[in-house]
Amino acid sequence: MVIGKPFLTVEQIQGKVKELANIISRDYEGKELLAVGILKGAFMFFSDLVRNIRVPMHIDFLVSSSYVKTQSNGKVNLHADIRSTVQGRHVLLVEDIVDTGLSLNYLRHMLLGRDPASLKICALLDKKSRRKADIQIDYVGFEIPDRFVVGYGLDFEDRYRNLPYISVFKEKT
Ligand code: PRP
Repeated sequence: MVIGKPFLTVEQIQGKVKELANIISRDYEGKELLAVGILKGAFMFFSDLVRNIRVPMHIDFLVSSSYVKTQSNGKVNLHADIRSTVQGRHVLLVEDIVDTGLSLNYLRHMLLGRDPASLKICALLDKKSRRKADIQIDYVGFEIPDRFVVGYGLDFEDRYRNLPYISVFKEKT
């Protein structure tokens, strides 16, 4: 069940999305981006973010998963790869949340192996205290404590992704 009032409201999320998009637009001025959304979790954040970024871009997606219920199993499954060429492009990987960092670490290395001109990471949520892989996140929305959150793309057993805000999830006992 989803408990209490939103952990992050629609207004807080949308304000942060605009802030991040402004910084990214400034950093990539004069360049062309390849924005890559990591599905499923990032679908909502990605679409809000890119519509606020003001540099030319190509858009692509990859589908990966590592979670079973509320636990990361540490093994990253790549269900679908991007179709774009990475070589020589400025890649921006967009995630909903970084927890252990194992997913991003895997995907980052995979894309770096394809020789991009640059590769940066943008994540809406950062659960820093849970980190296992040492990765740098270039653009962070909110640093959050170790609570299981759902909504705005994030799920529990594939539910709650459609909520426009983010809430703390608690399993029924
Ligand atoms: C979630 C989230 C990140 C990853 C973060 O995806 O979207 O991709 O876990 O966790 P990590 O830092 O511990 O690797 P999930 O595997 O649940 O798939 P989903 O995007 O389809 O929800």
